Amino acid sequence: MINNEEICGPIELSDSGKKLSRFISKNWRTKLLLSNWRGGTAANWHSNFLGKHLKELIKDPVLKDTLSNFTNNKKYKIWRSNIFYKRPGFPYKGINWHHDKHFQENDRDIDFREIGTHISLLIAISNIDKQTGIFRYIPGSVKSSEIKRNISPSHLKSKKDHFKPIIEDFDYDKNSKSLEIKDGNFIVFHSALIHGSAAATSIEKGRMGIVLRLIKRDKKVSDKLLKGSPCLDI
Ligand SMILES: [Fe+2]
Repeated sequence: MINNEEICGPIELSDSGKKLSRFISKNWRTKLLLSNWRGGTAANWHSNFLGKHLKELIKDPVLKDTLSNFTNNKKYKIWRSNIFYKRPGFPYKGINWHHDKHFQENDRDIDFREIGTHISLLIAISNIDKQTGIFRYIPGSVKSSEIKRNISPSHLKSKKDHFKPIIEDFDYDKNSKSLEIKDGNFIVFHSALIHGSAAATSIEKGRMGIVLRLIKRDKKVSDKLLKGSPCLDI
């Protein structure tokens, strides 16, 4: 298990959390929700009919402890949420390198050194491994002075700057680490951490993960950035 100021996990949910995550992944409502999206992504599901299960899942004692230790903060709200799904029988290309901090500010430049206002949480509700598309990240990328990134917030730059956030030549693969996250485990990470996922090596297995963006409860999000995704206190 990794535990530093950039990333913590994988950590196993409590037994009740694992039961609930299994319920969510197998539930017909989840499948229905995901079937409406071509890419197998359900955005902002905390504000739809699955929200009550998410509210319950986020109360998991192991998860809560990890969150408060990670940034010394106990009060968060969910700002955005997704379920990502790779259907069995179909290839998975992976997710290109990016960080999640693009979205934090409205008009101000992004401060990559700041930690705690905005953190990312990934809960594996299937095995996330080599076969299904392993999680990858660049250690040291949060504070690296070598890595030059576009510091404008997301809506003030071109979409291509969201992925491959490093402007100059950089060997991502050479500098990356892979992290297997077993079904029922989670990781939390600094939202400026550069991360992505590798292509699946097998098409047979499915891959499902819950991704949450959490921000401190007292952080005000502008209406422009909320875009139909109301914040949910946890
Ligand atoms: Fe991400």
